[in-house]
Amino acid sequence: MAFIKNCWYAAVWLADLPERAPFGRIVAGERMVFWRIGEDKVAALTDACPHRKAPLSLGVVQDGQVACRYHGLGFAPDGKCVTNPHGPLQESLAIRAYPVEVRDGMVWVWTGRADKADPALIPEEVLAFTRTLPVTAYVTGYLHARAGHKLFEDNLLDPGHADFLHPFLGGGAMTRATRTFVKSENSLRLTMIKDAWAYPPMFRPGMRDPDDVADNWAEVLWNPNGAVLIRIGATSVGRPREQGVITWTAHIFTPESETTTHYLYASGRNYNMDDADYNAALAIGLRASFVNEDVAMLEGQQAVLGDADLLDTKPHLFPMDNASVQARRLFDSLVAADQADWMVPN
Ligand code: FES
Ligand SMILES: [Fe+2]
Repeated sequence: MAFIKNCWYAAVWLADLPERAPFGRIVAGERMVFWRIGEDKVAALTDACPHRKAPLSLGVVQDGQVACRYHGLGFAPDGKCVTNPHGPLQESLAIRAYPVEVRDGMVWVWTGRADKADPALIPEEVLAFTRTLPVTAYVTGYLHARAGHKLFEDNLLDPGHADFLHPFLGGGAMTRATRTFVKSENSLRLTMIKDAWAYPPMFRPGMRDPDDVADNWAEVLWNPNGAVLIRIGATSVGRPREQGVITWTAHIFTPESETTTHYLYASGRNYNMDDADYNAALAIGLRASFVNEDVAMLEGQQAVLGDADLLDTKPHLFPMDNASVQARRLFDSLVAADQADWMVPN
């Protein structure tokens, strides 16, 4: 399977981890069990007991350990077996422990060589907006999708799809926008601008001048671990961006397998920031559009593709697809470099 191993993946929102029970999730093809070991501290191990491979995520959490519910072996956060009702505590009973960092309410897990797990490599910028906004100005969520992470990343590097797929979000500006993108060693930034066009429908309620013409813009930051930040805004023609409406949405696509994805999202805004009712309604509306529009479309696309990679099917592409094709190329080159790194014994 082609995953980058030496990287941090968003595994689960901390708020979604049970208080006193283990939690199983497959991240980039690896079965993991997570459990809380303190405030804002989480442990992750391979989710398979060394005795007869029962999942530890069906076990229990006791005294900071996770214990297998089949025959009672217990494991510490470092993977060492610390309880064995059936014999001595042998080193060979140890299981793999994954480096974990909790940041911005997200549990990040490192699937690569532990000696390379530098927390500075977490793509900070993607959830940074949640640090400064009041809790009534952003929503978070999780979805499981039967479509691969690359299809989701293509989708975000193509904000123009909103004009067709999301009647609530798109207003025609992004299809007509000028696009520029900058590729760096391990990220890609896309900028879209359409001046003097209508405000998108979602920004209009509550605006003083919803029928004005506006300067529309979007910026997408793509990271190879599937963490994408999209900022979308519009402001009355000629006014600075800060005077208009701005939304920040983190769409984090953590691969489960090559054709299934954990979709973790957070969406914030600079208007109606103290309106809890608006926030609750937006949470429902956004989730509905992700589930019924994006996920439904991408699951359909994946069903058509089966196990094939989109680019191997020789699709008929347009200039609007340049950014996503470049991101895929960068991803493939990073996978190759990462695999070479794994050849080094550690
Ligand atoms: S399978 Fe876990 S203790 Fe037997
Ligand atoms: Fe979408």
